[in-house]
Amino acid sequence: MRDVYIVSAVRTPGCRRARGAFSQTRPENLLVQALHGAVGRIKLDPAAIDDLMVGCAFPEAEQGLNIGRVAAQMAGFPDSVSGATVNRFCASGLESIAISSLKVANGWCDVAMAAGLESMSIVPMGGNMPRPHPEWAKEHPDVYVSMGITAENVAKRYNVTRQDQDEFAYNSHLKAAEAQKNKLFTEIIPTNADKYEELKDGTIKRSTFVQDFDDGVRADTTVEGLGKLRPAFAATGSVTAGNSSQTTDGAAASILMSEEAVKKYGVKPLVKFKLYAVAGCKADEMGVGPAYAVPKLLKLAGLKAEDIGLWELNEAFASQAIYCARQIGIADKKYWAADSKEKRINISGGAIALGHPLGCTGSKLAATMVANMVRLGVKYGVESMCIGGGMGAAALFELC
Ligand SMILES: CC(C)(COP(=O)(O)OP(=O)(O)OC[C@H]1O[C@@H](n2cnc3c(N)ncnc32)[C@H](O)[C@@H]1OP(=O)(O)O)[C@@H](O)C(=O)NCCC(=O)NCCS
Repeated sequence: MRDVYIVSAVRTPGCRRARGAFSQTRPENLLVQALHGAVGRIKLDPAAIDDLMVGCAFPEAEQGLNIGRVAAQMAGFPDSVSGATVNRFCASGLESIAISSLKVANGWCDVAMAAGLESMSIVPMGGNMPRPHPEWAKEHPDVYVSMGITAENVAKRYNVTRQDQDEFAYNSHLKAAEAQKNKLFTEIIPTNADKYEELKDGTIKRSTFVQDFDDGVRADTTVEGLGKLRPAFAATGSVTAGNSSQTTDGAAASILMSEEAVKKYGVKPLVKFKLYAVAGCKADEMGVGPAYAVPKLLKLAGLKAEDIGLWELNEAFASQAIYCARQIGIADKKYWAADSKEKRINISGGAIALGHPLGCTGSKLAATMVANMVRLGVKYGVESMCIGGGMGAAALFELC
């Protein structure tokens, strides 16, 4: 197998569903800008790209019709650049990188593009017309249970307290606010957003503005404020709007190359995409997925948790992120507290502060991971997330 290099990885900002900057921007427009951003950063002629894989968790309506191919064409890439849509729910954006990586590693192509997309404003979580199988759903309601309830199950079954969750959430906002203040989100490409207004004469006016920051970060978050929020999914539960991931719109893209292509196009390799592992778990506690996927990944790599300098552990919910960190052996507060000099987990904040645009997340976290690994000179980074239906995914990156 050949080495696979990520040579460009960018993302749009992540913006709040319905009330955020991208709520009126079509998903294709977000994705096309991410694609342009990724090729633009390394001045690559898109004709060099063999195929584009786009991760999307609800690939229907505006983000349906094989968004992978549609986006390649809308981006103005030549007809020779093919495209497909990939769905593994919250790992879709990472799955797209893994599939692209396999193609390069096997010599099936030299340049592949992998992206992720979700407009949760335009296509709701669950899709426009969910139609679970009636008999199956009656016998196995856990398979279709709300993600919030799975987070409650994890909190109750594994003793993750409300206080644990709120403290973790508070630190997510602090880290994200600090990263914004210090302009550390260098992977963000300023992105045009659309806004529609009805004028007095009944006509609709479309205007455009540039969005260059994640608009869900609350720098003024306090543990006390979080403690006052009511449970969002179960009357006596502990999972709230404050310790859950935000629902978000966004897109991200990266370019993968073989060593030959790196030389041919004269680009700087950033990290190697080394390994990918997925694992199944019970659907009604899907948040524990990383507790299975990460050990599987580390075993394949011959590494231990302490060898990993940076973690992007998706914060679908604080309850599951904390439980997974405990199982992986990295739950000590020094690894995730905003004021710790030894922090390794979600050092620029996570989805509680920055949002979790489902199918985009795997690709978005990869862009953040690559930027942080390069900036800090960290040798190994692991990205992992839980997945609806009961799964976890994890990937290993190595600095070039
Ligand atoms: C939990 C959830 C339902 C909340 O949605 P929402 O109600 O639109 O969330 P909001 O941002 O409006 O926050 C709700 C309230 O909490 C408050 N809040 C949120 N974060 C806060 C913080 N950090 N500090 C203080 N208050 C906060 C808001 O101010 C708001 O209060 P208001 O109604 O008085 O304005 C939604 O975020 C969700 O479903 N998240 C999980 C998504 C998911 O399942 N993803 C897949 C994972 S596998």
